[in-house]
Amino acid sequence: MKMKKMLFYISMEKHASPFDIIEAYDAVEDVAVVPYVNVSAEEIPALVNDIIFPRSPKDLINTAIFIGGHDVVKGDEMMEIAVKQMFNPFKVSIVADTDGSNTTAAGCAYKIKETYTKKGENLKGQKAIVFAGTGPVGLRIAALLIKEGVDVAVTSRKLDRAMDAIEKVRKVYSADIKAYEVRSDEDTIKVIEEFKPNIIVTTGPPKITLVSKAIWSKYNFVKILADVNAYPPYGIEGVEANDDCKEIEGRTGIGALRIGTIKNKAQKAIIRKLFEKKGNILKLEDIYAAAFE
Ligand SMILES: NC(=O)c1ccc[n+]([C@@H]2O[C@H](COP(=O)([O-])OP(=O)(O)OC[C@H]3O[C@@H](n4cnc5c(N)ncnc54)[C@H](OP(=O)(O)O)[C@@H]3O)[C@@H](O)[C@H]2O)c1
Repeated sequence: MKMKKMLFYISMEKHASPFDIIEAYDAVEDVAVVPYVNVSAEEIPALVNDIIFPRSPKDLINTAIFIGGHDVVKGDEMMEIAVKQMFNPFKVSIVADTDGSNTTAAGCAYKIKETYTKKGENLKGQKAIVFAGTGPVGLRIAALLIKEGVDVAVTSRKLDRAMDAIEKVRKVYSADIKAYEVRSDEDTIKVIEEFKPNIIVTTGPPKITLVSKAIWSKYNFVKILADVNAYPPYGIEGVEANDDCKEIEGRTGIGALRIGTIKNKAQKAIIRKLFEKKGNILKLEDIYAAAFE
């Protein structure tokens, strides 16, 4: 009998995300997706033991773990505990993509890079501000852009939150970043004039416009406008969710749904990768690389 591929979908939420479950079934033929919900970090070691021991080590290429749910901090903690619990030769592949934060960040950085590549220009050396960049999506976009050689700043409504964010990016992603407090249009103008970004990214909550057209259109050095908020009004005035590297008054607009398309592609690619190699631990950079495959 051919051994079944089994993906254990572990979440701290009451319900498994239908989105993640559908992505998994669509990514890999003949996979069984087994959801475990309401899981706490303390329950991870016992759960991992039950996942790694039934099959012989050589067969563990057919077993994998996907950590989902909304709580990104808890998700990262669960992933760390799960990885620590495994040991050679009892290792299975694992990835965490809580709230779609890794795959969304990968999708956004991908579209920005694609824009430069298509124009025959280099992303390296550009400058980007990630507005409302202290959330999981914003921080990961910041980290990926820094790895691409971009000089990055993030904004927050509170400077101390922005400073915490800088520390987090430095520690977790070994990347350097600048921080600004932005609470008004005047603050937005001030940071744009000071930092002079070529790229503006907005990663605020749904239905909140962070950068108005009257502001971004004043600055010719701003070339790319990318927004991850899929619910109108959008994060950057003038950039619609479906804009796919669309020219908008001499700039390139990248909308949330087009970032979402790459996000979905990256999510399927990483689920496939879980079953390509035993004990594969997929992190943000691997997820970003998967988006290009
Ligand atoms: N396109 C896609 O495929 C896709 C996939 C997943 C998620 N998303 C979207 O990505 C966005 C970011 O997700 P996330 O989980 O990182 O977001 P989040 O943590 O909920 O919010 C990001 C930041 O927004 C700031 N913020 C909160 N309320 C605000 C307000 N009223 N005005 C201005 N700033 C405010 C907060 O920063 P401070 O408190 O530091 O100011 C927060 O850290 C969301 O819109 C989400 O829906 C898109």
